[in-house]
Amino acid sequence: MQARLELKSVRDVDADAVVVFAFEGQPPALAPAALTEELYSSAEFQGKSCQTALLYRPEGWRAKRLLLIGCGKPEEFDGHALRAAAGRAARLLKERRVSHVAFAAEQPWRSAETVSALVEATLLGAYDPDLYKTDPEKKGTPLGSVTVIAEGAGEELQAAVERGSILAECQNFARDLVSEPANRLTPGKLAERARAMAEQEGLSCEIIDESRLKQLGMGALLGVAQGSEEPPALIVLRYSPETESTDHLGLVGKGITFDTGGISLKPSEHMDEMKFDMAGGAAVLGAMRAIARLKPSIAVTAFVPAVENMPGGKAQRPGDIVTTLSGKTVEVMNTDAEGRLIMADTFTYAQKLGCTHLVDAATLTGAIVVALGHVYTGAFTNDQEMLNRLLEAGKAEGEKIWHMPLDEDYAEQLKSPYADLPNIGKRWGGAITAAYFLKQFADPVPWVHLDIAGTAWTEEAKPHMAKGPTGVGVRTLARLAADWQS
Ligand code: BES
Ligand code: ZN
Ligand code: ZN
Repeated sequence: MQARLELKSVRDVDADAVVVFAFEGQPPALAPAALTEELYSSAEFQGKSCQTALLYRPEGWRAKRLLLIGCGKPEEFDGHALRAAAGRAARLLKERRVSHVAFAAEQPWRSAETVSALVEATLLGAYDPDLYKTDPEKKGTPLGSVTVIAEGAGEELQAAVERGSILAECQNFARDLVSEPANRLTPGKLAERARAMAEQEGLSCEIIDESRLKQLGMGALLGVAQGSEEPPALIVLRYSPETESTDHLGLVGKGITFDTGGISLKPSEHMDEMKFDMAGGAAVLGAMRAIARLKPSIAVTAFVPAVENMPGGKAQRPGDIVTTLSGKTVEVMNTDAEGRLIMADTFTYAQKLGCTHLVDAATLTGAIVVALGHVYTGAFTNDQEMLNRLLEAGKAEGEKIWHMPLDEDYAEQLKSPYADLPNIGKRWGGAITAAYFLKQFADPVPWVHLDIAGTAWTEEAKPHMAKGPTGVGVRTLARLAADWQS
């Protein structure tokens, strides 16, 4: 979808709808006073958060419709409220089959950050995971174009529109991948999609196939893959900046295209949801796509181990011992704790390729959902400075991330009588013991682990976002690279 900046006055913009933000109790000066005074004195609309009023043919305006969208109390207004309001407006207008939408970016909605955020939220709000719906009635008409109206604006806002649309498009690309079912998105297909994207964006791409993974010695990754008829693939995409950088960021995304649990089989109820177990991989691919377009000054390599976790005659058993690429041995006590196994080998490989900093995104544990629900992504680290960089990127992009503990007191849970370590801890603190396992393979490089099991998918449609894949992580990871200071 096209996003652009329009320097005219709101009244002169020819759009199917112009959206005007409105604070609680403060009729916006921009909208015709006669209309807003009457509205605000009725019970219909007072500018409360996400309240809407759709008016037709506002007098003296070229646009067909004026949509007032409530932003709540000015003192409570922040990036989240702005994103919620813009996304809500986009969804409402899409439902009404409106094609050309324009947003009035008057103060205080005129900064580069707010303009980017509002473009992002609009494109994200207008997204529906309806690829496989064949009934055009149910599929809905996509928004045609988005315009930000800012009379007399300069280049800064032009760049903000551009940046917002890049980030949202790349996030929607990740959402497309996550909504693909596992019969259509096998590890091989995910690798093909990554390659096609890399070619289009000018990234270099290498797909490491099964025989090469064997040669390299990725025993932990291969152990997970051996139960499936679908061969695994390790996707590697590289971005090189124009001037050489000493820092080299590695982004690792869990790419389990389906997680049955393996021999430690999951219950059948809700098992369908486990097609989302490659959401970390999708987030990393989406971020790479954005990085290719934003061209930051740091070298970035993405790694997505793509594997299907299945039970079967050749599947790995509980009690099996595998040798990881690092040389450490792991006793696989539960075949459903497969994400950490494929990630462990990938971390070692990323370090062999020269990554000086690592961030991973993974739908790693049910335990993080118990801890943080569906609101915050859990972050774990071995380096506070690295975490600070990531939290700042998350904050700037409006993605909620919470720092979780990770210290040596959890070590006693990860002892195996027969191997260097088991792949699971005891019952409690499961998200932390999973992270502690990863840490054994991330050390000594500065590393942040994002457990997105609770945030990669929304079971309920939100006013500003469709039910289904959220594309969480894309913006934070891209922003981390874009704002990187060596
Ligand atoms: N992909 C799951 C994590 C998951 C579970 C995400 C539920 C969302 C909802 C992961 O591979 C897994 O199965 N983890 C196990 C680990 C356990 C066996 C130690 C879990 O969390 O139950
Ligand atoms: Zn699992
Ligand atoms: Zn999993």
